[in-house]
Amino acid sequence: MKIIVTGGAGFIGGNFVHLMVNKYPEDQIICLDALTYAGNMETLEPVMNKPNFKFVKGDIADRELVFHLFKEEKPDVIVNFAAESHVDRSITDPGIFLKTNILGTGVLLDACKEFGIQRYHQVSTDEVYGDLPLDRPDLFFTEETPLHTSSPYSASKASADLLVLAYHRTFQIPVTISRCSNNYGPYHFPEKLIPLIIANALNDKPLPVYGKGENVRDWLYVEDHCLAIDLIIRKGKVGEVYNIGGHNEKTNLEVVKTVIHELGKSEDLIEYVTDRPGHDMRYAIDPAKIHRELGWLPETKFEDGIKKTIQWYLDHKHWWESIISGEYQNYYEKQYGNR
Ligand code: NAD
Ligand code: DAU
Repeated sequence: MKIIVTGGAGFIGGNFVHLMVNKYPEDQIICLDALTYAGNMETLEPVMNKPNFKFVKGDIADRELVFHLFKEEKPDVIVNFAAESHVDRSITDPGIFLKTNILGTGVLLDACKEFGIQRYHQVSTDEVYGDLPLDRPDLFFTEETPLHTSSPYSASKASADLLVLAYHRTFQIPVTISRCSNNYGPYHFPEKLIPLIIANALNDKPLPVYGKGENVRDWLYVEDHCLAIDLIIRKGKVGEVYNIGGHNEKTNLEVVKTVIHELGKSEDLIEYVTDRPGHDMRYAIDPAKIHRELGWLPETKFEDGIKKTIQWYLDHKHWWESIISGEYQNYYEKQYGNR
């Protein structure tokens, strides 16, 4: 099987590429990535010399490039991770989110229509369902929950999901969609909560907590997400949506305190800052369908996953220190300077 993985130089895509290249030496894995600020060739270093791996630099919204790649490579499967993925950046600069997340997805679907494909898989997010209230712990997102988005990021991801389903119905493209909760683990870009807190705590810098820190996220170790996608592309039913999540809800404050205690730092580092506009209160996935139909269950408990993640950041200082020493400084000042 020949699989094009878009966005494979990013966090989840990178973990997925590592998994696929090592688990299926008989498959060919091609990573298509534009190497935006979030893409990092160092993430792909462990697989660069593997005979079943190839890297192509390019933008999924570049129709000519994508069509040329499909014509040359004749892929069997596309797994689309490529996206602008940070909610805060979508609030300050939404345009690129519409281009990459919606138009880019449209170009990939057009290429599937033109050249044929065995499976197009869209990596989506639980954020397309909006949020749940804190006082209703009995409520969960199912695949039937209506789309109801809050940020330009989640609106762009929901738009892409609708395009994917439309291409299935109208042009019979064999698609699947997965909607996953918050991931954490190795290679997570330090603009996102967990790696940002780890990096700042290690540098004894303030730990910015939005609002009161009471918003709830449903954390899943990245490898469990990758294993679920692997199952869906091989055994999932065409035209279906699968929710992925680990029933592991934590307030942001709980997460931040866990990292502080694991690192032996002081809670005095916590700094409450102005809340994110439109901040979703609670995400909580009901993963019953993927468990029932494909037998998927998360393997890594948060208590173990967070320890492994922190250890990874301690062992790979070069990876994140080179990120936070560059353009990231300007981003950080703009985002947190006057907050
Ligand atoms: P990321 O920001 O770490 O990585 C995105 C990757 O896509 C980068 O390598 C970047 O260079 C690449 N990219 C961006 N624009 C591109 C373009 N136009 N053409 C080609 N490549 C491009 O993102 P992530 O956190 O790994 O998320 C991957 C996917 O998973 C996204 O679609 C996101 O919506 C979804 N998702 C993320 C989470 C999460 O917790 N991080 C949870 C659920 C779903
Ligand atoms: O739920 C899946 C989504 O999870 C993915 O679709 C997104 O791509 C991914 O970025 C993530 O979105 P969140 O907005 O939930 O993740 P983030 O790490 O940005 O924030 C997690 C929570 O922590 C959120 O409630 C905001 C809060 N936060 C975040 C940062 C960066 C803080 O309190 N302080 C911070 O500095």
